[in-house]
Amino acid sequence: MCGIVGYIGKKQALPILLQGLRDLEYRGYDSAGIAVLDNRKIDRVREVGKVDMLAKKIGQDKFVGTIGIAHTRWATHGGVTESNAHPHIVGEGKLVLVHNGIIENYREIKKQLKNQHQESETDSEILGQLIFENYQGDLMKAVKQALLKVRGTYGIVVMHADHPNQLVAARLGSPLCIGIGDKEYYIASDVTPMLPFTKQVTFLDDGEIASINGDGLKILNMRDEIINKTVTQIDWDQAKAQKGGFENFMLKEIFDQPTVFEDAIRGRFNVDEGTAVLGGLNMTLEQMRDIKRVMIIAEGTARHAGLIAKYAFERLANLPTEVDFSSEFRYRDPVVNKNTLVFVISQSGETADTLMAAREAKRKGAVVRGIVNVVGSTIARETKAGTYIHAGPELAVASTKAYTNMVAVLLLYALQFGRIKHTSLATGQRLLQGLLEIPEKMNEILKQTDSIQNIAKQYQQYHNILFMGRGVNYPVALEGALKLEEISYIHAEGLAAGAMKHGPLALISKDVPVVAILSKDQLYEKMKSSIQEVRARGARTLVIATVGDEEAKEVADDIIYVPDTMELLEPLLNTIPLQLFAYYIAVALGRDVDRPRNLAKSVTVE
Ligand code: G6P
Repeated sequence: MCGIVGYIGKKQALPILLQGLRDLEYRGYDSAGIAVLDNRKIDRVREVGKVDMLAKKIGQDKFVGTIGIAHTRWATHGGVTESNAHPHIVGEGKLVLVHNGIIENYREIKKQLKNQHQESETDSEILGQLIFENYQGDLMKAVKQALLKVRGTYGIVVMHADHPNQLVAARLGSPLCIGIGDKEYYIASDVTPMLPFTKQVTFLDDGEIASINGDGLKILNMRDEIINKTVTQIDWDQAKAQKGGFENFMLKEIFDQPTVFEDAIRGRFNVDEGTAVLGGLNMTLEQMRDIKRVMIIAEGTARHAGLIAKYAFERLANLPTEVDFSSEFRYRDPVVNKNTLVFVISQSGETADTLMAAREAKRKGAVVRGIVNVVGSTIARETKAGTYIHAGPELAVASTKAYTNMVAVLLLYALQFGRIKHTSLATGQRLLQGLLEIPEKMNEILKQTDSIQNIAKQYQQYHNILFMGRGVNYPVALEGALKLEEISYIHAEGLAAGAMKHGPLALISKDVPVVAILSKDQLYEKMKSSIQEVRARGARTLVIATVGDEEAKEVADDIIYVPDTMELLEPLLNTIPLQLFAYYIAVALGRDVDRPRNLAKSVTVE
């Protein structure tokens, strides 16, 4: 995720900005840059790669100045190149900006700009130009007027050569905080870079603009009303700050889900037409109609996201869909041809088996599309077309937020195909409405964290735990089991509830509890019978049920309620309590949650 650092005060800005970028390195990035203002002159340096590379490029150069901004970029629009890196300088070399987030309507804005020349391929530069074209001597006003025309998300900091004692910052959806020192201010995407200098921090809220100069701080909303902010005393050390105050990256990433989910779907659908618009599909309507089969290839959690998509492609688009382990696909004789659409799903974009499987599918003439988190990763580059899931850097080995974003993007793909086939406008609109409500519903679940932790503690002593579900919730059971075994080392299996009686039921005893997903959908009664069957054989049951379903208590020793949603969207909610369940068991057992034994985040070997 991109990172912003800014400084204004009496000290030299360069070393503070450089160290600030290093403190934000944990967020993941692909390029970095710094701009310092002195005597109405802007010095800027940018480099692809690590902050060390940037430092090397700066070398002995002094970059004198006590005001400056810096950025680590995680590419979204435009490749990983020096000219796409921030800060961007626009407006005859006078205005410089760093931006996090996505400007959705950048194409429309570009058309309206007087200056049609851009040095980069980024939406950020367009935003900078828009600010410059609104500038008439008052920098804060120019920023505000530009932002009123923008749709999307931003955290920005702007500097102008004619305002050598002013930084202007604004936020909508992309965090920014301001550290307050003695006649000096620090700005950053999170508090980490400012902690060595000050613990007094104020957090910008959405729709606020700050003008910061050495003497003071003025914060306005979009209606020009002055906002009196509270100043928070931060007691975290830097390590905790990097985790957003959470104990582990995994817990932080679980809590990131409602926010990054919005990034996965933003600008990718059209409610009026009840359809998705994923540009990365890069196919004409005719080519889409020629697709006769879908294949999804992935490993681990990404494969579970694919299994959910199978239900969506079959139901919405009437397309036979097969899901396979990348490692199996590449060594069998897969039957694919030009009418087969192959989705290759990978958080890291580097998983060796998945990359090889993608090459194999291409060789056999299939249409191959990547669904990847890490921008510029090998799978993203080799598949050329496809979609980034925008989950931001995921650092815990056990995948959480990448999974929900993969599911979101796959559902959009299924809808896009569905709408050119038999899915009705009403169903499409209902699905989109359902997707838009997901973040709020995820928050409802996250509010129950304490009670989920209490339940989890009661399961820590078991050596085997089974998870079962049906329909779209069968892959949820697989994912719940995978999360648990990855980080707690308790043996866990995900099972299709209907298959229990054909074997796994023999495992059931009072020592083998069952986690069951019982949503109020078409398979409700059947699922309930399966839970009764395991209970009758002595199993303790933890049931994930739909809010308001009192009957579910009849089959539950422990129960977690999740909000109601459309059946195809249930996995987006039902998985979250299972992530927390696994997390708290692992914590109770004293495991290294973020770095479980024997596992790696990115498996680049076969
Ligand atoms: C490894 C990780 C899993 C992950 C899988 C696929 O096995 O431990 O958590 O789901 O790789 O990774 P990818 O980066 O391709 O999604």
